Amino acid sequence: MARKPFIAGNWKMNMTAASGEKLIKELAPLVADANCDVALCVPAILIPAMTQAAKGTNIAIGAENVHWAEKGAYTGEISCEQLKEYGVKYAIIGHSERRQCFGETDESVNKRALAALANCITPIVCVGETLEERESGITEKVLDRQLTDGLKDIEDVTKIVIAYEPVWAIGTGKTATDGQAQETIAYIRKKIGQLFCPGCAEKVIIQYGGSMNAANCKGLMAQPDIDGGLIGGASLKLDFATIVNFDK
Ligand code: PGA
Repeated sequence: MARKPFIAGNWKMNMTAASGEKLIKELAPLVADANCDVALCVPAILIPAMTQAAKGTNIAIGAENVHWAEKGAYTGEISCEQLKEYGVKYAIIGHSERRQCFGETDESVNKRALAALANCITPIVCVGETLEERESGITEKVLDRQLTDGLKDIEDVTKIVIAYEPVWAIGTGKTATDGQAQETIAYIRKKIGQLFCPGCAEKVIIQYGGSMNAANCKGLMAQPDIDGGLIGGASLKLDFATIVNFDK
C-alpha cells in the first residue's frame, strides 16, 4: 500500500493568536485540495484558538511536545488529556531543539511517545545527527541509538511518524541534498525493519525536516523513501501551501 504523504508545520515559539488565525484562514483554501495529510504544530497556548480557526478545514492541529504523566507536579508541561480536550491529533516529540536546549533524552522521548500512542495522539518522533556527528562518520550510529532507545516498547510502529531532521540543516538554510536525505531516510527505514518488522517499515511515514521550502520540496518529495516534511520557517507563511501542493 502506498504511503500517504504528510506535510506538517512546526511553528516553534512563533506567532500569536491573531497572526496564527490570519495565516490559517489564508492557508485553508490554498491547501483544501491537497493529496497529502496536513498539520500545523503550534505553541501550546495557541492550540485552542488554532483548532477553532482550522475547524472545517483539512488542516489538523498538533502540539510541539507532550508529557508522559497523566497529571501532576510538572510545571510547564502539557498532558495528553489536555491536548485531547482540543482534538489535537499530533505531537512533535524529541525535536533537536528540545534535545539540545532542554535536556530531552532518548529515554524521555520514549516515555512521551508511548504516552501519546496510548492516548491516540500520533507522535512525530524527531531524529537526526549534528554536523560534528556527520563529519565524524557516526550518523548511522546516532540514528541507531535514537531509534532503538526512543522507540523502545512501541507495539505498532506504523502508528508513529518519524521526522529525520539533520541538526545542521535546521533553520540554517542549508538543506540536505535530495540524495543525502534519501540515503539517510532509507537507512532509517531499514533500521525500523530490523527493530520491528520489514513489513511495518514499509508502512511508516518518514518525513524530512531542515530548511525544506517552496523551492526544494519537489526534489525532496520525489525521493522514494521521503514521505513528507516537517517544516519550520516556511510554515510561518503562505509558502507552506506551496509545499503542501508539492505534487501539483
Ligand atoms: P526549518 O525547521 O524548516 O526552519 O529548518 C525545521 C524544524 O525544525 O522542524
